[in-house]
Amino acid sequence: MNIIEVKNYEEMSVKAAEIISGQIKEKPDSILGLATGSTPVGTYKKLVEMYQAGNLDFSKVRTVNLDEYRGLPKESDQSYYYFMQENLFKHVNLPKDASFLPDGTNPDAAEECKRYEHLVADMGYADLQLLGIGRNGHIGFNEPADVFKAETHCVRLTQSTIDANKRFFASEDDVPREAYTMGVGTIMKAKKILIIASGGDKAWAVKNSFYGPITPRVPASILQLHPNVTVIADKDAMSEW
Ligand code: F6R
Repeated sequence: MNIIEVKNYEEMSVKAAEIISGQIKEKPDSILGLATGSTPVGTYKKLVEMYQAGNLDFSKVRTVNLDEYRGLPKESDQSYYYFMQENLFKHVNLPKDASFLPDGTNPDAAEECKRYEHLVADMGYADLQLLGIGRNGHIGFNEPADVFKAETHCVRLTQSTIDANKRFFASEDDVPREAYTMGVGTIMKAKKILIIASGGDKAWAVKNSFYGPITPRVPASILQLHPNVTVIADKDAMSEW
């Protein structure tokens, strides 16, 4: 595991964007696994800047996102589909049919999870998977549990995640209670993993994920078993290390 400590959010974003652009340059038809949330916003901004400066070409790239809220239509400004359009897709030359997320509007959870897992498998899984990390060590929406769930599945969000995500919604009641997410097995099949963390509220998760026992109680700890992981964490996120 390669752990890179940086000064702050800005430096984390620059470094992460450099790694992602390096991946695209090395393999123009890369499958990128992408995440939503506050942490990757700066990284996506840097990638857009690189594209606008003529230094990056997404024309052969395909993307698979980790997760999507169950029940939210694509047009909802809280859907992860919408987030990806706003923060990355609509600003770069990624072909319209080259980005994939779970379909939050499919009410048949078993069918949707199976469909998405097969889709990602048929693409050969991500060449590079970008991850944020929850305060409780969740990755995607894989929340602390008694067992690791391998494949794409439907989850009930924990109160800690609802609390963390309610800032994006009008009220706590509007936060969807369920989501479709890649499983830890789907994530672990990515060839490379890049995990980014910023801020003191991630310090517990960073320490316990990468410097503690591997346990489904801290889902990101499974990444210790992956052969190619880079962690970029800022000073505050490393403060309990
Ligand atoms: C979202 C996702 C989540 C976030 C995590 C951290 O696609 O996979 O696991 O990475 O909740 O969120 P932020 O970055 O908002 O702190």
